Amino acid sequence: MTSRRAAPGPRGGTTPPHLRLVTAPGLAGAAAGEVSALLGLPARETGPATADVGLPPGDDDTLLAAARVTLASRAAGRVVLDLARDIPAEPDALAAALRDLPWEDWLPVGVPFAVRATGRSPALRHTLHVARLAKDAVRDRFRARGRQAPPVDPRRPRALLDVAIRKGRCSVGLDLGGGSLHYRGGRRDATAPLREDVAAGLALLAGVRADRPLLDPFCGSGTLLAEAAAVALGLPAARDPRRLALGALLPFRDVPLAELAEELASRRPPGDHAPFLGADADAVRVAEARALVARAGLGGHVEVREASVEALEPPENPGARPGIVLTNPPWGRRLAGTGVRAAWRALGTLARRLPGWTLAVLSGDPALTRELGLAAGRRHPVLVGGVDARFLLYPLRSR
Ligand SMILES: C[S@@+](CC[C@H](N)C(=O)[O-])C[C@H]1O[C@@H](n2cnc3c(N)ncnc32)[C@H](O)[C@@H]1O
Repeated sequence: MTSRRAAPGPRGGTTPPHLRLVTAPGLAGAAAGEVSALLGLPARETGPATADVGLPPGDDDTLLAAARVTLASRAAGRVVLDLARDIPAEPDALAAALRDLPWEDWLPVGVPFAVRATGRSPALRHTLHVARLAKDAVRDRFRARGRQAPPVDPRRPRALLDVAIRKGRCSVGLDLGGGSLHYRGGRRDATAPLREDVAAGLALLAGVRADRPLLDPFCGSGTLLAEAAAVALGLPAARDPRRLALGALLPFRDVPLAELAEELASRRPPGDHAPFLGADADAVRVAEARALVARAGLGGHVEVREASVEALEPPENPGARPGIVLTNPPWGRRLAGTGVRAAWRALGTLARRLPGWTLAVLSGDPALTRELGLAAGRRHPVLVGGVDARFLLYPLRSR
């Protein structure tokens, strides 16, 4: 068998130990950049939706760093601690590699687990089949040692194994969040909200910074605005470890998760930064955005106004401190469509009044993009809610 696994990585995991970040397609580079900047760990994009984070050697340091990434990253959708990689993507090799890993060091007795499988190969064509194979191999490992195998519960697992197949090879690891990390207290019932990890990834691609003014003229319920402000101010996500799967894994019981989370949550925005402003024509959305900004601890740092883009006055002397217009205007898909084209035209007009600024705009429709009337900018393909969208960056010329 040629799978790469060696002691003494994290409890018999890969050497050198690393995390696999999973993002929305197009945002892996942004997530890698965030982890490097926020936590000083080496990270690099390995595909449109995956990035590798190198972890320091030594069990304690490895686990501490893995926990910090899981608690702090805004742009990662999932964080997986890989235990084995480069396994040939065929059933016998995968089952053998899985039986070879010391699951009894990770999974507590009686704690239910599930397997999430992604990707396919000619010999492993169905993710359900891969998940079943993996589950059986893990339970075989326990039984072969005369131990009680952990129960399987695909609906409410407390530990989640991750098997990813790509280019004929498999990676096997533990999903430290236990699922998608995107929900962190924002409202999910608002109109067309972006997922928080996607919003943070876009803000990172746009290059938001504390010393650059930020304007979102279609801020809706404020997800993009709040994530962008937090990214600009260098604030980590600070998740509650009790809601994450890593707390159930045996090795993390020795990691001071509550202390780590407290340290991340205690970080405060710098007192002095450029103005951050959101606006929306809909009073209900404005109220939601204000509430979200307050919940995110950004009250007093981000202003939200009720105004249509047509009526929004650009800041005085905008060229003196060039900022970023970062926005997700209506696409006319889920939102009632009247005036959508006019709104995009008005955004183009507003942008032309902001010389030296950057317009960073998410578009799901090239016809709407053309309404901006701006020369083509840099384009990043991103998959947003199943839509093959473009994130466009326009440097706005000084007059
Ligand atoms: C796609 S949503 C924005 C979602 C937002 N980025 C978020 O993260 O929640 C588009 C928003 O544009 C607003 N809108 C539509 N036409 C507008 C206009 N002419 N001026 C200002 N806002 C407008 C809608 O009320 C809606 O909240």
